[in-house]
Amino acid sequence: MQMIKKEIEIEVYDFESELSEEDQQLLKLAREAMEQAYAPYSRFLVGCTLLLENGVIIKGSNQENMAYPSGLCAERVAIFYAGANHPGVPVKTMAIVARAKDYEITTPIASCGACLQSLTEYEKQFKKPIRTILQAAGGKIWVANNGTLDFMPFQFNVEELKR
Ligand code: THU
Repeated sequence: MQMIKKEIEIEVYDFESELSEEDQQLLKLAREAMEQAYAPYSRFLVGCTLLLENGVIIKGSNQENMAYPSGLCAERVAIFYAGANHPGVPVKTMAIVARAKDYEITTPIASCGACLQSLTEYEKQFKKPIRTILQAAGGKIWVANNGTLDFMPFQFNVEELKR
């Protein structure tokens, strides 16, 4: 028997002021996006910003629907907008913030599997991880420098499907 071991490293910051100006700006805009979420059913608001390599910043928030599965997470709203409107431009950094209207969230919330899978497609396309900053509204900040690999260490990757 052999073992496969994978290690992840997440940087943890207590204060936003410890981050670069650029990262702070992304978090600030993610909070703005979060407040624009349409989440009347879950009352769970998520905001996501993407900083593209060309300096463009894209904002997304979760958009729910009365037919629940028709709604979409903030991360996919943002990444699909990037793919549709800025094709060929790699994503450098992503910032995600979340807050619930009815309870307090104290630790950062990682993206769901469907969002991680969608994000991996763009990482593979550009051969570049999307550096990820997570913050529970007002709480600690996590920075994952290896992108989705830090949250989903085994990825669906069948190169042959590209042929
Ligand atoms: N949500 C996101 O926006 N991102 C995620 O990664 C997971 C969940 C949204 C979907 C739904 O509107 C609400 O959070 C509760 O699941």
